[in-house]
Amino acid sequence: MRDKKIIIGNWKMAPKNIRDAKATFQNIRSIASKLQNVQTVIAAPYVYLSELKKLETGHRCVVGAQDVSFESDDPHTGEVSADMLKSIGVQHVIVGHSERRAKGETNEDVSKKVIAAAKKGLIVVVCVGELERDEEGEYTLYIKEQVMQSLADIPKKYLGQIIVAYEPVWAIGVKAKREATPEDVLEMRIFLRKVLIDMFGDRKGAAVPVLYGGSVNQKNAFAYIHGCEMQGLLVGRASLKPAVFEKILTLANGS
Ligand code: PGA
Repeated sequence: MRDKKIIIGNWKMAPKNIRDAKATFQNIRSIASKLQNVQTVIAAPYVYLSELKKLETGHRCVVGAQDVSFESDDPHTGEVSADMLKSIGVQHVIVGHSERRAKGETNEDVSKKVIAAAKKGLIVVVCVGELERDEEGEYTLYIKEQVMQSLADIPKKYLGQIIVAYEPVWAIGVKAKREATPEDVLEMRIFLRKVLIDMFGDRKGAAVPVLYGGSVNQKNAFAYIHGCEMQGLLVGRASLKPAVFEKILTLANGS
């Protein structure tokens, strides 16, 4: 499984209704289920997960969640626990997305969520990314701290369930300043690998998959994934456009 590219579609707060969610998932699944070298995960809003789970036809294209609580039982109105996700068969969860961090989620919260979800056997996609880049390279220190704090205290036995997604905030969404260049991404892939190896040792640190996310589209996907040797991509807007997303998946598959 780990040799496969991991392509995660982050649907955020879309589509607007379950009918569109099902249609989009089915469209994506029809291509994704044929690709041998790619694992596709559609991180859909909680309310759609159960219905979309029923449309899965195998392991190549599955549904995931966009967040999880670090609490394990009530009373936490509005929260969803790792047990609940597991109970409907969800295996993947995104944690620490920049849009959640912008609402006040701290590295400490992220670390608690990572541990809570990993303990329950979920595969956790931990997002990190600097708000902006500066000439002096301060952003690398910011990322290092974010990774170290977001993955703090995680027992090594859960490392096989951790995926890191590098998502520079300045390159995300319609308000992106610009697209990240392959050089920006390659530099950070090398840096993240060093941080992970320093934290977890040569073998375990080298094995954590690192994905790239931020304005990924059909034109830049190939360079990010193959040129920058990323293990996968986290795709926002483009994952809601089946034709574009299919192109990205096919490029990642190498076919
Ligand atoms: P984008 O979003 O691809 O629309 O830039 C990426 C993300 O927020 O994960």
